[in-house]
Parts: sequence; structure tokens; C-alpha cells
Amino acid sequence: MLVFGGTGDLALHKLLPALYHLHRDGRLAADMRILAAARNRLSRAEYCRLAERHCRIQVAPGDFDPLVWSRFAERLDYFPMDLTQSADFGRLNSSLGKLGPRQRIYYLATAPDLVASISANLSIAGLAGANTRIVVEKPIGHSLASARAVNDALGQVFSEAQVFRIDHFLGKETVQNLMALRFANALFEPVWRAGHIDHVQISVNETLGVENRGAYYEESGAMRDMLQNHLLQLLCLVAMEAPVRFDAEAVRNEKVKILQALKPISGLDVQDKTVRGQYGAGTIGGHDVPAYYFEKHVDNDSDTETFVAVQAEIDNWRWAGVPFYLRTGKRMAQKRSEIVIQFKPVPHRLFEGSQANRLIIRLQPEERISLQLMGKSPGKGMRLTPIELDLNMAHIAPQNRRWDAYERLLLDVIEGDSTLFMRRDEVEAAWSWIDPIIRGWQETYQSPRPYPAGSNGPEQAHSLLELQGRAWLD
Ligand code: BG6
Repeated sequence: MLVFGGTGDLALHKLLPALYHLHRDGRLAADMRILAAARNRLSRAEYCRLAERHCRIQVAPGDFDPLVWSRFAERLDYFPMDLTQSADFGRLNSSLGKLGPRQRIYYLATAPDLVASISANLSIAGLAGANTRIVVEKPIGHSLASARAVNDALGQVFSEAQVFRIDHFLGKETVQNLMALRFANALFEPVWRAGHIDHVQISVNETLGVENRGAYYEESGAMRDMLQNHLLQLLCLVAMEAPVRFDAEAVRNEKVKILQALKPISGLDVQDKTVRGQYGAGTIGGHDVPAYYFEKHVDNDSDTETFVAVQAEIDNWRWAGVPFYLRTGKRMAQKRSEIVIQFKPVPHRLFEGSQANRLIIRLQPEERISLQLMGKSPGKGMRLTPIELDLNMAHIAPQNRRWDAYERLLLDVIEGDSTLFMRRDEVEAAWSWIDPIIRGWQETYQSPRPYPAGSNGPEQAHSLLELQGRAWLD
């Protein structure tokens, strides 16, 4: 596995710790090698020390074993190179030659605008044969046109089966559990539709700000950074039909149908169906934090949204008329990512105090699935009380270590399974829906609404639901 951008945050904070865990669990082939490549002039020993320093922080103390690390480090190597220079790919090819022919995985943990040139350079240097795979991170492009250009560039060098477009949300255990819940239990299928479901909420709220990613974030904002990919992928898993098989093509065929069925939002619609927000100064966990426009590498009069809420609808037989409220924000009151399936109330209320059922699929901070039902309080009289059916897998198998999303997904790449990766048409269908919203914001001069850091987002995001007699579950 070649990790381009081997000294960056993604490689050091996520990929190497994930590979270390896989090694520790005996999941990596004995002869697998990991070669990190980046511009810094480091020796192999210096890179190993850098990687170890980060892994010691990222890996839980009980899981880090210096002996295991030293065996893992034997797999590691480092190659200093300039990823924009084709001559350096030639040098890389000669250096790889000594390992002999083997399966190769290129992981692009680099800036997104390098994807096209790296894949072209791999091809020119003769590094892109049939026995290779390439992993690319989101964002794929910045708009439909630029995503197509990136996909075209990849497509000129690699077949679609060789390209793994990663969305790490799909590697989260609870997200996969959602599929198990839906497609391994006959119970939910009859009620999983308009008629029984009032609405769906998908929230991914973070307490973090933009940290040191201001320059990237100024170009993307919450819409491109989170909603275009992570939230739409979650929406697909909630809304898709049962695939005929659990394999890459069948699953992705169903997901893309959902993206294509999203009702367009454009022009003036954006005012009623979307809310943009930007965090101001506030308090998170007792600490004062600055406004977004005071963050590093951010313009003082930035118009970038750090929060977005959208009311989406899916124009198909199963979901017609059911709102899917999507929301994501930085510097929110709590770190919480969850999907709420809000069922309709009973058609005729016999008992006081009965509430409609709710299925909550929580991804963060803890992973859990719970079903809220109504029951009778013990004792005399029909007094109702909500009861929660806890479908938490961690309780069922507490001895199992929680896998990080990257561990699962890296293993899938190694095994060549692209079920949990985005296909080209999915990415482009998502942009086809997002582009008109962003255009609508520009046409209607929709500036982000301010919200204090540490709050639940701008007022307007609450009104979006309140006007329809609903509320976010905060
Ligand atoms: C990334 C976004 O894709 O996902 C970040 O670029 C965001 O802005 C992150 O913070 C959230 O991922 P997780 O797994 O920490 O919830």
C-alpha cells in the first residue's frame, strides 16, 4: 500500500493507526508493505518515529504494544517525492521494482486537487497496471462539472472496479447495522414508508470548529464538506430499496436511484427549504472560542456556511411526501450524529400521554440503536410511559473492540470489496442535486445566518421544522 500524503493528518491520525490495529489483529498478509510518500525529506527511521509518535496518541493505551509496533514498523517505509513531478514517479517505479510484482493499492491522502495529476503520473510512470487499486477521499470535485473532470481523469487510467471512493461514514459500525436492521428483520419493512413514517431527521453535529483547515473549508463550507457526501450517503441507506444481493453493484444500484429521485431544490425554493449558518464567538465545554471569521486562513468577511439544514424529499412511491430533514454544523452544543425515524402517531388515541414511536440510530458520540415504544406504568390505571428498546450491539458483545471506520474500509480495499465505497454515478448524482441549491443561494444572495458557538444552530433551522409542527430532537 502506497500512502501519498504520508506525513499529513489523515495518514498519521487515521490510516496508520487503522493499519496498526489490523496488523495487531492479524488481518494483514505477512508480506504486506506500507510505503508512505510525501515531500518532506525524511529517512525511513525518521518516518517510523513520526508515525509511532502519532499512533501512540491515536491508539487506545491498552491497545498500543511497543513490541507489536516494532513488528508493524518493519512493514513501513518512506519515499520522499514531489507529487506534482512526473520524474519522481519514475524514481518511485524503480524503487518499487525491487519488491517484485505484487498487488498495489495507492491511497491518495492528499489535497483533493492532486487526484487527477497523481493518477496521470502513475500511468505515465507505468505504475497503473491491472493489479492496482486507487483510493480517493472526498471531496470528489467541487461541483458536478469538476467531479466529472476528476472521475474522467481517474477513468482514463483505472477501470471503475479499481477505483475506491471512500466515505468514512459508511465504515461506521452503526451505519452498517442500519442495513442489518432494515434488511435482516421482516418487522420493519411494512412500516418503512410514507403512511407510517412522519419524517426522518439526519443530524451530524460537531463541537469542533474548522481547526487548521480554514483554507480548505473556505472553498467547501458545510454543504460540500459534509452534506454532499456523508449526509446524503446516510439518507440513501435509510431510503433505498432492499438490494437483490449484498454486493457492490446491487447495493450501489439502489443507492443511486435514491439520489436520482431527490426532488430538485433551486431558485427561490432555497429560501423555504434550506438554511445556511455561520458560527460566531461562543463557549464550548466551558471555553471561549472565536467566531468562524477569526479562524486561521479564513476571510474576515467570509460568506462560507459552517452549518446547513435542508428539507429534502424523495419523489418515489415509498417516500412521496415524507420530509427528510438534514442538518450538519460545526461548533454546535453537542457532538452528536444520529438518524431519527419518527413514526406517525396511532390513528386513534385510546390513552392519554401516548407518543409516536421513534427509532434512533446514533453514530456518535456512542454507537447505539434504540426503539422508543409506549408501555403501561405498573400499578393501577392506564398511565403510559415511554420505554426504550436498546438494540445496542456493544452490550451484546462488550468484549469486542470497537473498530474505527478506516479499519473496516481499508480491509475492504485490500480484499477488493467496493460495496461501501461510492461509485462514480453516485457522486455525480449527489452533485446534480447539490449544485442547484448552491446556485440558488448565490441567486438569492442567501448569506449564512449567525449562531453562537455552542448553540443548536441558527433560529431559522428550528423554524424550518416548527412551521410544519415538528422539532429537531436535541
Ligand atoms: C470529514 C469532514 O469528512 O468528516 C470534517 O471533512 C468532519 O469536516 C469529519 O469533521 C467528521 O468525521 P467524524 O468521523 O469525526 O464524525
